[in-house]
Amino acid sequence: MNNKAQEKAPLLDAILKYTSEPITHFDVPGHKKRQNPEITEAFGERVLKLDANSTPELDMLGHPTGVILQAENLLADAFGASHAFMLVNGSTSGVQYMILTACRPNDKIIMPRNVHKSAINALIMSGAQPVFVAPETDYNFGIMNGVRFESIKKAIAEHPDAKAVFLINPTYFGAASDLRAIVKLAHRHKMAVLVDESHGAHFPFHPEFPDSAMEAGADMSTISLHKTGGSLTQSSALLLNERFYRRSQVRTVINLFQTTSASYLLMSSIDLARRKLATQGRQIFDKLLAELIEAKKTITAIPGLAVLNRDYVDGSGVYDYDDTKIVVKVNGLGLTGFQVYNILKKDYNVQAELAETYVVLFIASIGDDAGTLKKLTDALADISSRFYGAPEFLVEMREMMLEPKTVISPRDAYYSVKRQVALEEAAGEVCGESIMIYPPGIPLAIPGERLTHEIIEHYKFYKSQECVVINDEENPDYVTVLGTP
Ligand SMILES: Cc1ncc(COP(=O)(O)O)c(C=O)c1O
Repeated sequence: MNNKAQEKAPLLDAILKYTSEPITHFDVPGHKKRQNPEITEAFGERVLKLDANSTPELDMLGHPTGVILQAENLLADAFGASHAFMLVNGSTSGVQYMILTACRPNDKIIMPRNVHKSAINALIMSGAQPVFVAPETDYNFGIMNGVRFESIKKAIAEHPDAKAVFLINPTYFGAASDLRAIVKLAHRHKMAVLVDESHGAHFPFHPEFPDSAMEAGADMSTISLHKTGGSLTQSSALLLNERFYRRSQVRTVINLFQTTSASYLLMSSIDLARRKLATQGRQIFDKLLAELIEAKKTITAIPGLAVLNRDYVDGSGVYDYDDTKIVVKVNGLGLTGFQVYNILKKDYNVQAELAETYVVLFIASIGDDAGTLKKLTDALADISSRFYGAPEFLVEMREMMLEPKTVISPRDAYYSVKRQVALEEAAGEVCGESIMIYPPGIPLAIPGERLTHEIIEHYKFYKSQECVVINDEENPDYVTVLGTP
C-alpha cells in the first residue's frame, strides 16, 4: 500500500471544489442545489450541494477516467486488488455482478447454502446451477458457520466442470473459512473464487483480523464499506484480482445494471472511509480490539449469557474468527434472541444488528469505543438481573437447520407457472420463491427446492417470534409453489 498516496481523497476534493463554484445549473438533479425548504430542513443545505450530476470535472461512475478512477485506484491499492469498482447499490449488486461475470446459463457454481438472498437472486438472473455445500452448524449457539475445506474439496471432485467457488468471508456471525487453502485448490482446478465480504471490509487493516479475500488470492470480492468500513449506507465496492476476468469484462456486467446517476454523497463517502481505514485503521482497531476483549470478558461473567470468542476457532467451520462481532447467547435467561433484541431496544435504547433463536448479534466497528460497549454490557447485565433464574429456552435445533433438496434450478423455478398454497399444505411442494427472516436474509427455502415439513415448521416458528419474515406473498400464511393455479 502506498501510504503517502492513501492520505489523498481525490473524489471528495473534487466534489467539495465543485460545490464552492458559482455555477448556474441547467442540468439535473432538479433541485438545482437551490434552497428547497423541505429538503434543507430535513437534511441540511450541504446535502443538496453535494448531490451532483456527472460532469467532466466530477467524472462518471460507468466509464471513469478522472477523479472517480483515481479514487478507485486508491481503493484497489488499500485493499490489495488489481482494480476496485465503487458501487452505489450495496453489496447486493456486487454479489450479483460477480456471479454474472463468472457464470453463463447452466454453468455450475459451488456455494455454501447459507448465502445471502442476493446470491440466490444472481442464480435466477444468470441461470447458473448451484452446487450447494452444507456449512458447519453450531447447535449450541444455533448458528451456521463457514464451510470446511474438505466439503469444498468433495464438491470440486464431484463437479470438476464448475466454473467458480463462492464463499462468505466472514459469515454474519464472524466465522471465516480456510480461504487460502480453498483458493489454491480451486485454482488448481481452474475455478475462480468469488467472495461475499460484505461483513469483512475492515479485514485488511489489522493483522489480527482473518485474511481478506484479496490477501488470500481470491479473484473477486465484494465489500460493504457501509457495513463495517464507515461509509454511507449503500456504498460498497467490488474488488478484482485480474486473472480469470479482465477489468473491462467486469465493468461491462456492472454497466448492465448500475444507475447512470450515481450519488456523489455515496461515492465520496467511500473515498473518505478508505482514507481513514488506510491511514488510521491499524491504531483504531488496536484500541477497539483491546476494548472488545474487556467487553467480552464482562459479558461472559453475566449470569445466563455466553459470548463467542477466540476459543471458538476450530480450524474447520470457524477456521478464523472476526472479533468485532459480538454474538451473545441469551437463551440461558429463558428468553429467545428475538425477545432480548426487542427488550434491548424498548427498555435500553440499544439497537442490535439481528437476532436468532438463541443469540443476539451486535456489530462493533470503527464507530465504537469503550463508552458504547459499556452501554451494551450494562444493558445486558440489567436484563440478566431481571430474567436470570427462568428455565433455559430450548427448541429442537437439529430440526430447524436447512437440508435443501433441489428439484429444479432457481431460474427454471422462477419462470415456472406458480400458485399459492396455505403453509399447512405446502410440505412436499416445490418452492416458487425465497422465504426468509430479515436480517440476515439467508433463505430457508429458495425457488426450486422441495419444501419439507421441517422447513415449514421452522418458518412458522419464526413467524411466531416477532421477527420480520419475508416472502413474495402479501399474506404470510401462504407460500408460492410450482404448479397450475
Ligand atoms: C452476507 C451478506 N451478503 C450480502 C449482503 C447485501 O449487502 P447490502 O445490504 O450492502 O446490499 C448482506 C446484507 O446484509 C449480507 O449479510
